[in-house]
Amino acid sequence: MKTRQTNFASEALASAQPATAAVSQPSTAGPATRRIYRLVSSERGLRLQQNVEPAPRPGPRQVLVRIEAASLNYRDLLVLRGQLGKVREGLVPLSDGAGRVVATGPEVTRWREDDRVAPIFYPDWSSGPFREAYLASALGGGDSDGVLADLIAVPEEALVRIPDALNFEEAATLPCAAVTAWQALVVRGRLTAGDTVLVQGTGGVALFALQFATALGARVIVLSSSDEKRERATRLGAWATVNYKTTPEWDVEVRKLTGGIGVSHILELGGPATYDRSLRALAAGGKIAQIGVFTGFGPQSNLLRLQLINAGINGINVGSGEQFAAMNEFLVTHRIKPVIDRTFAFEEAQSAYDHLASGRHFGKVVVKL
Ligand SMILES: NC(=O)c1ccc[n+]([C@@H]2O[C@H](COP(=O)([O-])OP(=O)(O)OC[C@H]3O[C@@H](n4cnc5c(N)ncnc54)[C@H](OP(=O)(O)O)[C@@H]3O)[C@@H](O)[C@H]2O)c1
Repeated sequence: MKTRQTNFASEALASAQPATAAVSQPSTAGPATRRIYRLVSSERGLRLQQNVEPAPRPGPRQVLVRIEAASLNYRDLLVLRGQLGKVREGLVPLSDGAGRVVATGPEVTRWREDDRVAPIFYPDWSSGPFREAYLASALGGGDSDGVLADLIAVPEEALVRIPDALNFEEAATLPCAAVTAWQALVVRGRLTAGDTVLVQGTGGVALFALQFATALGARVIVLSSSDEKRERATRLGAWATVNYKTTPEWDVEVRKLTGGIGVSHILELGGPATYDRSLRALAAGGKIAQIGVFTGFGPQSNLLRLQLINAGINGINVGSGEQFAAMNEFLVTHRIKPVIDRTFAFEEAQSAYDHLASGRHFGKVVVKL
């Protein structure tokens, strides 16, 4: 377990020098420039700005990664809208990407050129328990640059190897959405065959949860506002689906579907407007994985019911590099492929954001670099 509490992302920024600076020699020089997006202030709030800049060079214990694809999460909309607090002017957005090692600093021991890797969401959380000090290092938010650039310098501990079975676009969907679903259901939820799971919607976290839970032999109920998406969820393995728009009392329906018992696991993605129903849909002894904020950051429900039914809540905040690596093995064993809704070109990054904001997607939205 690591005891050091430095912020790797800040370290990366501090030691990622422009190509012209005199730094220790990496294994190869790497390209001279990079294509990059930064968030800049405008009259209407933050906006994406595309730049070409000198490429970074890796510091002594850093790796230069050619990012081949990035993916969007709901969080990235919140960052762009300024709903997750202050963002540094010029921040590089997006937490999730995958690519290839193109150069290594002289003290790097874990990686070689051409290794296929993905940065971890909290660069400092490679293993062990979570520490609050890690919060500020989350990629693509606050003060910590993200991955929407075709070259980034990353501390060697802040990467995981991606499965050979996945292409870069697929692997780029994993660091936030998939690891969150993994921590919720497997690491903390201890899901087993025969359990019942409720997921809200058909976005990134929800569909990874559906795939993991189905692979483990659980029965999954999917809520969706679209009947067409419900059919797709069924084809992906959902045991039952409920349209939460046409059946606003979905908690009643979920109890009916489970013979009046309720579900043993709920991925709570909605927040204030869904929480009461989640509590009512939960079985005795069940677990809520508290994850999402679709309906805002407002006050939460009365939790008395949890005590009455011997149930619990796990607060979930993505996961560690160690968890990410274990999840990758599971993906390979169970031949799970991430569900990609649509891939946009680098120049169309704004359209990728707009598509995610429209809610039309089923699964992940990707940007190819
Ligand atoms: N705590 C963490 O570590 C963590 C990590 C990742 C994500 N999150 C949070 O988890 C949530 C999911 O993120 P994501 O990136 O997977 O989102 P996403 O891919 O953008 O998912 C969007 C989909 O969610 C569904 N949805 C929206 N509002 C809903 C509601 N009120 N009830 C039920 N479903 C609803 C819709 O599905 P249909 O179109 O099928 O209706 C929508 O298309 C977000 O709130 C995000 O901030 C938290």
